[in-house]
Amino acid sequence: MRVASFIGQKGGVGKSALARVLAVAAARSGKKVLIADFDREQLSCVEWANRRTREGRLPAIEAREFKTLKKLRKNVSGYDLVVVDTRGHADELTEDVAEESDVVFLPSGTSLDDLRPTLNLARKLAKHGIADKIVVVLSRIGRSERLLDGAKQLVEEAGFATLDVHWPQRDGFQGDFDNGLAGSESVNPHLRQSARLLEEALLSRVERK
Ligand SMILES: Nc1ncnc2c1ncn2[C@@H]1O[C@H](COP(=O)(O)OP(=O)(O)O)[C@@H](O)[C@H]1O
Ligand SMILES: [Mg+2]
Repeated sequence: MRVASFIGQKGGVGKSALARVLAVAAARSGKKVLIADFDREQLSCVEWANRRTREGRLPAIEAREFKTLKKLRKNVSGYDLVVVDTRGHADELTEDVAEESDVVFLPSGTSLDDLRPTLNLARKLAKHGIADKIVVVLSRIGRSERLLDGAKQLVEEAGFATLDVHWPQRDGFQGDFDNGLAGSESVNPHLRQSARLLEEALLSRVERK
């Protein structure tokens, strides 16, 4: 079993949307997947999975609310992949989740407002000896190559890895999310294609030993 978590110091950076892309990709490739939703105030993944079920989308995705890591550990037998979604503000639980994970994805926008807290969190996690598990995912990115390159450089200078595919910000995803689809299943072929590139990058990082 592999555990991949989406962690951040901020809300709204795309943790839940990316967790759903990874879960759908793994399920489509035949893996038994659980999304463990630790964001108990928002439950974005649980609510989305409910909409997905209601719309009859396949593959079905199981998403459940969890309060503690202990509870999660008791419930993971039989799964190939557990995707952990967490709340906006990283706390002690988030750090424990990170330690338990095989890969820790840190989604972040390109602004310093996003990157500074993200890199501070990465440094904090690195003190637990897990720097090599950390992957910053540049997320909700507009059309500027310059901003993207600048952000990549900053993350790399700080000594952390970035995923080589970014998550583009597109209004068109909203309808898909609202209808229980992941970005990689978008009804818009251009959006779907860009999300498929990202899903491949997420999945191959998760599968890397
Ligand atoms: N690539 C994207 N393009 C457009 N909207 C997005 C994209 N990714 C996420 N969103 C939207 O942005 C908001 C925050 O995303 P979410 O995944 O919930 O972030 P987090 O889990 O980090 O708080 C949500 O309204 C979501 O639907
Ligand atoms: Mg969320």
